[in-house]
Amino acid sequence: KKAVLAYSGGLDTSVIIPWLRENYGCSVIAYTANVGQNPSEFDGLEQKALDSGAEKFVIEDLREEFIRDYLYPMIQSGARYETEYLLGTSIARPLIAKKMMDLVEAEGADAVAHGCTGKGNDQVRFEMAFKAFNPRIHIIAPWREWELRSREDCIEYAEKRNIKLQIKEKGIYSHDDNIWHLSSEGGELENPWENAPKGVFGRILPPWEAPDEGVEVIVGFKKGNPVSVDGEELGPVDLLEKLNKLGRDHGIGRIDIVENRLVGMKSRGVYETPGGTILYAAHREIESLVLDAETMHYKNQVAPKYAELIYNGRYFVPLREALDAFFRNTQENVTGEARLLLYKGNVLVQGRRSPYSLYREDFATFGQDDVYDQSDAEGFINLYGLSVKVRSLMEIEGSES
Ligand code: ARG
Ligand code: SIN
Repeated sequence: KKAVLAYSGGLDTSVIIPWLRENYGCSVIAYTANVGQNPSEFDGLEQKALDSGAEKFVIEDLREEFIRDYLYPMIQSGARYETEYLLGTSIARPLIAKKMMDLVEAEGADAVAHGCTGKGNDQVRFEMAFKAFNPRIHIIAPWREWELRSREDCIEYAEKRNIKLQIKEKGIYSHDDNIWHLSSEGGELENPWENAPKGVFGRILPPWEAPDEGVEVIVGFKKGNPVSVDGEELGPVDLLEKLNKLGRDHGIGRIDIVENRLVGMKSRGVYETPGGTILYAAHREIESLVLDAETMHYKNQVAPKYAELIYNGRYFVPLREALDAFFRNTQENVTGEARLLLYKGNVLVQGRRSPYSLYREDFATFGQDDVYDQSDAEGFINLYGLSVKVRSLMEIEGSES
């Protein structure tokens, strides 16, 4: 028996390796996806995995694919879960799970394992994707099976087996980190009335510590994809890193929410998504110029559904694919630039332009124009308002029939 494990090098996944060997008699391939988490997490990771008893360690740089194939379509959709959350953890899981299944295939493994708890969304997201790629795969979720209940239990388990942990002293929060966001849950955050402690800021400066001078940034898009910052063309990774840095310095992109988990409970989380918040704002501005009203409003209606599919782990389903096709179709003319001021936690729109703009100053002006005949409006409103008028007449005069 051979299992592919989603491995982070943290305490629980380190303990899972010996636990799998003892309880399932399988060899373990530790798999780490680089989706842009803090690079210090990769220090000595291979040795750590082997020391814990893994047969093999595999790491892959998925950053570009993550941004291009998962984040850009999401930006184009405008999806936010429960109107706020930019889905940073939710959208990374399907990609990681897909790559794990590729490795299962390549290695002839017969099981996959992960370190998610039985109380969260992540277990669902991973396993929904595993099933999509291999309906017969054996899924092992140790947290739902073993007797270990705490950090201390895990440390004791490892020490009894002489496994060197070299776990960096990690705080009490549950974090998830990638190039899009940093999430924080647990610890003092579990009381939803209490301020999120200062130490929870991991990715951006608190807005009140950001400089008094804001900075202007121009973000360029081509067919819905971000392509440049301040006129400089950048690939996906460089572009997002650049915006993350700008966003960090100006305290951009932090939300503090209570959300509904798929498994039923509410949970309180703090999310920092600096570059993503800038990209969502810039993309929306260009769309405001180039999309017709009907298409834009329809997009706005289905975006929450797309967010819900991502959040609930329903990524590899026909509806998500169909919605993606729709969104892609709307992006043909989403080319242009947005000019934004980053100022103490705010993204303030300064201006926008596009070669495909539907905005016409000659039609919109409050000044003199010779393209729009104001007298046309009277007949328009007479017909547009006919049903309102008829109903009002009925209420005053009674019905004729
Ligand atoms: N609540 C967020 C979500 O469901 C973040 C989850 C973070 N996951 C983690 N393993 N720390 O998308
Ligand atoms: C976990 O339970 O593993 C993290 C939280 C979540 O998945 O929602």
